[in-house]
Amino acid sequence: MKFVMDERGKKYILSGENDFQSDLGIIKKEDIKESDVGDKLITHLNKEFKIISPNVNDFIEIMNRQCSILIQKDIGTIFAHTGVGSGSRIVDAGTGAGAILLHFGNVVGDTGMVYSYEIREDFAKIAKENIELFGLTNIQIKNKDIKDGIDEENIDLVFLDLIKPYEIIEETYNSLKLGGWIAIYSVYLDGIQISYKILKKTGFKDISIIETLNREYEVKNQGIRPKTRMVGHSGYLLFARKL
Ligand SMILES: C[S@@+](CC[C@H](N)C(=O)[O-])C[C@H]1O[C@@H](n2cnc3c(N)ncnc32)[C@H](O)[C@@H]1O
Repeated sequence: MKFVMDERGKKYILSGENDFQSDLGIIKKEDIKESDVGDKLITHLNKEFKIISPNVNDFIEIMNRQCSILIQKDIGTIFAHTGVGSGSRIVDAGTGAGAILLHFGNVVGDTGMVYSYEIREDFAKIAKENIELFGLTNIQIKNKDIKDGIDEENIDLVFLDLIKPYEIIEETYNSLKLGGWIAIYSVYLDGIQISYKILKKTGFKDISIIETLNREYEVKNQGIRPKTRMVGHSGYLLFARKL
């Protein structure tokens, strides 16, 4: 597998089993097979494709998805707020295509572990293929309804991206280590509101609700200014700690 980027920054995965065709021309399969990271592949229209080693964001951009995924501003806030990193043990649900899961696996390293629960067999399969293709071995995907129980204990972070996250808050409390975090992502405030009440009742502390807004700037001849359009809403984040 070769990961390539064209002159416009568009990314592709090339298997090398067939010639690669795009609007920028054709690259012969023999050239793809013989190439390596750092090389340039030239199409018959003399257009350049560069072979790079993809980082997690490059990979998520072009991986097989088929469902909505968390976006960078929210993923970044989850890492910054909970402080998970090398060696952390994380439970994630639901897996979906595995976007935040790839980020979790990417940061916990060889000494950490991520367990991800997905109720749907088709999504569990897609996520497994994505994880394998990216090359992470510190992730276990479980084709299981998380409401049937969390098997793991002594966990640093339980992350929930579910329609009714509040259904498993007590279960989450038991699987966390002292000092561990729960992080809930919800598109709607209703889910956050119900979860907040149950978190308090369960004994969670240090509870906060956060919405992250990302305003991108554009550089014009006249000056630098915020772009007219921005992502108005993705989701709310609710954090709490077992203390
Ligand atoms: C929005 S997607 C998750 C996206 C993912 N967090 C990401 O960053 O790419 C929600 C997933 O949760 C799964 N799901 C819903 N209820 C579940 C449950 N009770 N247990 C496990 N997975 C569940 C759905 O099948 C769906 O794939």
